[in-house]
Amino acid sequence: MSRYRSIASARDTVTITVDGSPLRVARGQSLLAALLANGTSGAAADFHCAIGQCQRCLVRVDGRVQTACLYVPRGGETVDTSPPDGRALPWERAS
Ligand code: FES
Repeated sequence: MSRYRSIASARDTVTITVDGSPLRVARGQSLLAALLANGTSGAAADFHCAIGQCQRCLVRVDGRVQTACLYVPRGGETVDTSPPDGRALPWERAS
């Protein structure tokens, strides 16, 4: 269960594929919000600003690197949440 809860309408949705699994996203909701609400954020969980500045929410959408916080799915996209820049995620870094 995710700590994040979406306030977007669940009536008008589009469907995308995230790491091989289908995910229904409220139309107009950012990809980052959808991933966090679903608990499937992967590399995007390392987000910081949520306004497109820090580049820490990077994922691949249809093979292209995108900032998940600014990307709004249209439906049909394939999302890969592994780190596109190869960096270690916070929970993988040595302390
Ligand atoms: S969270 Fe900072 S660019 Fe997306």
